[in-house]
Amino acid sequence: MSAIATIEVGLGERRYPIRIGAGLLSDAGPWRGVIRGRHALIVSDDHVAPLHAAGVRDLLAAGEPPLRVAVLTLPAGEAHKNLDAVSRVFDALAELGATRDACVIALGGGVVGDIAGLAAACWMRGIDFVQVPTTLLAMVDSSVGGKTGVDHPAGKNLIGAFHQPRAVIADLDTLATLPDRELRAGFAEVIKIACIGDAEFFAWLEANAGALLSRDAAALTHAIVTCCRFKAEVVARDERESGERALLNFGHTFGHALEAECGYGTLLHGEAVASGMLLAARLSSLLHMSQPSETGRLRNLLVRFGLPTEPPRISADALVARMRLDKKNRANSLRLILWRGIGKAEIVENVREGDVLSAL
Ligand code: NAD
Ligand code: GLY
Repeated sequence: MSAIATIEVGLGERRYPIRIGAGLLSDAGPWRGVIRGRHALIVSDDHVAPLHAAGVRDLLAAGEPPLRVAVLTLPAGEAHKNLDAVSRVFDALAELGATRDACVIALGGGVVGDIAGLAAACWMRGIDFVQVPTTLLAMVDSSVGGKTGVDHPAGKNLIGAFHQPRAVIADLDTLATLPDRELRAGFAEVIKIACIGDAEFFAWLEANAGALLSRDAAALTHAIVTCCRFKAEVVARDERESGERALLNFGHTFGHALEAECGYGTLLHGEAVASGMLLAARLSSLLHMSQPSETGRLRNLLVRFGLPTEPPRISADALVARMRLDKKNRANSLRLILWRGIGKAEIVENVREGDVLSAL
């Protein structure tokens, strides 16, 4: 089956398609023209590789022209999103004899995408890569926009590069095996898009939470397409986050600090973002930027999607110390994404740590 939707990320000569549909991993059509050169390395993890790696490998190996394809399977999970994993990708590329025209294919969730993308950005100073997201979170967010990176013990995603993929190929069929907790975590990034710039979509999510949680195909497709369109437009206007792209980090400064402080992998990224968005909403209300009723609506929607609304019990001071090392900050001041209510996020400079502590 061919793509239900194709969305272009408009970056001039580096523009690329996001192809969304069912059955795309067993159809050569969406892959046509995507891979240059003769070598491809599929990078996946030990949950996804057994389900899909052989199928993608066979599809590419049988293509025209035929490719030499290898598969690297990494251990799954955020706890493994580190430089060791990137190094393993380099070893596999060397073994494959990957020259500058080789292509890395990230087959998995955001963890695999971030690791494989960073390795592709570095190998021979940058080779092609293709994102094949298999989680909801990766389909609506991490596979689009070219942010790649890994964690450091001092903080989340501190080591990375901007490196745009050649294409994003999102096969909706892969979501059938996604565990419920991972599906719910993906909805945190969907809700984020609505929070920052689309109040109508927020209302649609309120009305369609049941259908989405029961994996209704039409509802899921609408949510994924809406998020990809929104993100593609933001990235086209501000690829390197010198301005509005920072809005996509609503809830993330709190969320990243929570993930790092709890130990990578304890709290899922989407769960940390859910708590983080509520903290950002609470702080906005404390600073008289928004009404408490807006915070209440967000809380209710997060509860509908089974997402956490209270951060785990950890030291507020330790969390603020983590937040100081966030990439959005400038020296000596916190820079946060807050909101004026649903659909109206803003970058706020010079936020006082005392106010953040009050919100916590
Ligand atoms: P993940 O990659 O860890 O995947 C979640 C879990 O689901 C893993 O255990 C994985 O093996 C499993 N899985 C994946 N697809 C599956 C499938 N189809 N069936 C069964 N199991 C499957 O996590 P994620 O939520 O996809 O991504 C989170 C990561 O993405 C975080 O590291 C976050 O920092 C990053 N991220 C990056 C960006 C970006 O712009 N680069 C944006 C948002 C998030
Ligand atoms: N997830 C934030 C961004 O891509 O900019």
